[in-house]
Amino acid sequence: MIAVRNGRPHRARLVAIDAHIPERVLTNADLETMVDTTDEWIVTRTGIRERRIAEPDQSSADLATLAAEKILATAGVAAADLDVIIIPSATPEYLFPSTASVVQDRIGATNAAAYDVLAACSGFVYGAAQACALVEAGLARNVLVLGAETLSRIADYTDRTTCVLFGDGAAGALIQASDDESVTGFLGFELGSDGSGGKDLVLPVGGSRNPPHMPFAREDAFLKMNGREVFKFATRVIADSTTRLLNALEMSIDEIDLFVPHQANSRIIDHAVDRLGIDPSKVVVNLDRFGNTSSASVPIAMTEARDQGRLKPGDLCLLIAFGGGLTWGSTVVRYEPMAAGS
Ligand code: ACO
Repeated sequence: MIAVRNGRPHRARLVAIDAHIPERVLTNADLETMVDTTDEWIVTRTGIRERRIAEPDQSSADLATLAAEKILATAGVAAADLDVIIIPSATPEYLFPSTASVVQDRIGATNAAAYDVLAACSGFVYGAAQACALVEAGLARNVLVLGAETLSRIADYTDRTTCVLFGDGAAGALIQASDDESVTGFLGFELGSDGSGGKDLVLPVGGSRNPPHMPFAREDAFLKMNGREVFKFATRVIADSTTRLLNALEMSIDEIDLFVPHQANSRIIDHAVDRLGIDPSKVVVNLDRFGNTSSASVPIAMTEARDQGRLKPGDLCLLIAFGGGLTWGSTVVRYEPMAAGS
């Protein structure tokens, strides 16, 4: 991209969302044959019944490419018109090149800058904040933000405490500059990090601390989680971040049309619904069929809500995500597609 600030105020308009989810289904019954678990335990403790798993030869960039093509088709925007591609991912194609650069080449986005964001499950909201800032600063007109995950590659299918939670998928949004003052766009963000909890959700091997050419214990090649600590953190932050953001915006939760939380555990969502006093009919929950897809989870949930007619053009959405870092992020955004029904 090449950008010169033109001094005009732009709104960052969320014009399209879409997803690509792999076809292969891994059910709780399948997991019962792999680890010492039961469907009853998984459903009661997490709400998850099944999750989708990428084919062995499918990578995060493969899923992201298919999702990117759908988003561009939905928006009616050519790949060559993209200025920036941001891919939040905890399971990128490589450390470098970035997954965003791989996707940029695959879809022919020849004019786009491309980079990844590493904020684990909060990545989509972090990426949306960057896209909003780029657009509103007048530096970009079309920014693709796309969470892409193959968590099955870092899930340890001998560890019942983690492997039941995660699924694969890619989803995201096109955020576009609008000169129309009636456009709402993003009203605000609340982003945060508590690095002191980093040890509670970690992939030990692969970075500079434990490079993969050095000897390491088998289990360190997989995601490790202190579930109880992450659970406590998540239940606290999902309500606190939402409350801080709504207070800053001087809004009530009743003004929100759709509440789209990160899909990690139905008990975490239920806790937030109780504490915030949200009308349960406004809450999107699809983790029963997709599990936790990290940075793809919020846009997958939005896409499904749109396909079910629950997310309608003009709806005001509250998105909230949390995860490794530990990090969290929430935003209020109006869904403003270009064409009716898109
Ligand atoms: N099947 C059967 N038993 C199990 C399973 C399983 N799959 N997993 C754990 N257990 C057992 C444990 O071994 C333990 O047994 P013990 O009492 O004999 O030691 C018992 O169940 C209770 O374990 P807890 O860890 O206390 O179970 P809890 O109710 O906390 O549920 C869970 C665990 C689902 C992981 C929960 O803590 C959780 O959801 N944490 C948050 C996860 C999260 O939100 N992650 C988001 C970020 S992910 C990211 O950023 C990539």
